[in-house]
Amino acid sequence: MSTKPQIVLLTGATAGIGRTTALYLAGQGHHVIATGRRVAQLEALRAEAVAKQLPGKLDVTPLDVTSLESIDRAVVEVNRLTAGYGVDVLINNAGFGLLGPMSEIGDAELRRQFDTNVFGLMAVTRAFLPAMQARRAGKLINVSSVGGRITLPYFGAYNGTKYAVESFSDALRYELRPFGIHVVVIEPGAIRTNFGDTAMTSVNAYDDTVYGAALAKADQMRARMESTAAAPETVARGIARAIRRRRPAARYVLPYFNSGVFVLRALLPQRAWDWAMRRLGYLSPRLLDARPTEALPSPTAS
Ligand SMILES: NC(=O)c1ccc[n+]([C@@H]2O[C@H](COP(=O)([O-])OP(=O)(O)OC[C@H]3O[C@@H](n4cnc5c(N)ncnc54)[C@H](OP(=O)(O)O)[C@@H]3O)[C@@H](O)[C@H]2O)c1
Repeated sequence: MSTKPQIVLLTGATAGIGRTTALYLAGQGHHVIATGRRVAQLEALRAEAVAKQLPGKLDVTPLDVTSLESIDRAVVEVNRLTAGYGVDVLINNAGFGLLGPMSEIGDAELRRQFDTNVFGLMAVTRAFLPAMQARRAGKLINVSSVGGRITLPYFGAYNGTKYAVESFSDALRYELRPFGIHVVVIEPGAIRTNFGDTAMTSVNAYDDTVYGAALAKADQMRARMESTAAAPETVARGIARAIRRRRPAARYVLPYFNSGVFVLRALLPQRAWDWAMRRLGYLSPRLLDARPTEALPSPTAS
């Protein structure tokens, strides 16, 4: 365990897990550089840290993970704030998910998901890694999801981005260890943030598709998924633990009871798992009216 204050850069700190983690880590004495797109929210975060007289330091700087210019500007600002040192810990937290049936979701939406959650994460990583590699020390903490290892109905696009984060993180862990850099994946289950509201913004776009009737029940599906939702502090504490550990685990499932779903997934036969997922997503032929209604002509009939 190390209690040495670290310089920590955090993406997506304007809300939810990122915001809570920024305050929590500053409360533990770290120097947090909280970044995000919305400057007013960043200023409010800084003001809250000052008002709470946290033992650590909390600086803020704008950073849109999908913009290379924005990332370059953030690197310059971080070098200014740290006298050219860079960061000890990079937390890639910025991300979002949109509900949508895989066969209906458009190319633009799919790209938007991957631009933020995958390409953005990698661009920020490439920007802040060289200083850690030069020092032969550091931690890269990528916020994935329980959904980085299991796929839920209508979350295929989002889950796809998190599967990519899991795989990229594994490769980075092997490749960066010789440079003294630890790579950690954070896998939250349902957490009470704006995530669900954002995910639901796309739901009406599919009203007129064959999935309209099922997605009309998306609120019930959300209620089931969020019935065990935890506070964002749970994730903040897990991240703080990974920062303290000299040799952190490769993965932290937060809260830990969510690991149960991986056990269930491993034990259940594929057919049983699929049935449960269809039930969760109201994917019944009756509701979707997906039953064949008339005999189609046989291709061999003349
Ligand atoms: N909440 C959950 O149940 C849950 C579960 C598993 C994993 N996660 C993951 O946890 C992470 C944080 O999500 P959250 O639950 O805290 O959701 P949230 O409350 O919606 O916060 C998402 C944060 O990401 C930021 N963001 C989105 N696009 C960005 C971009 N292009 N550049 C910079 N920042 C960007 C948002 O900034 P703006 O304010 O500018 O939009 C916001 O600060 C995400 O990676 C999410 O996938 C969440």
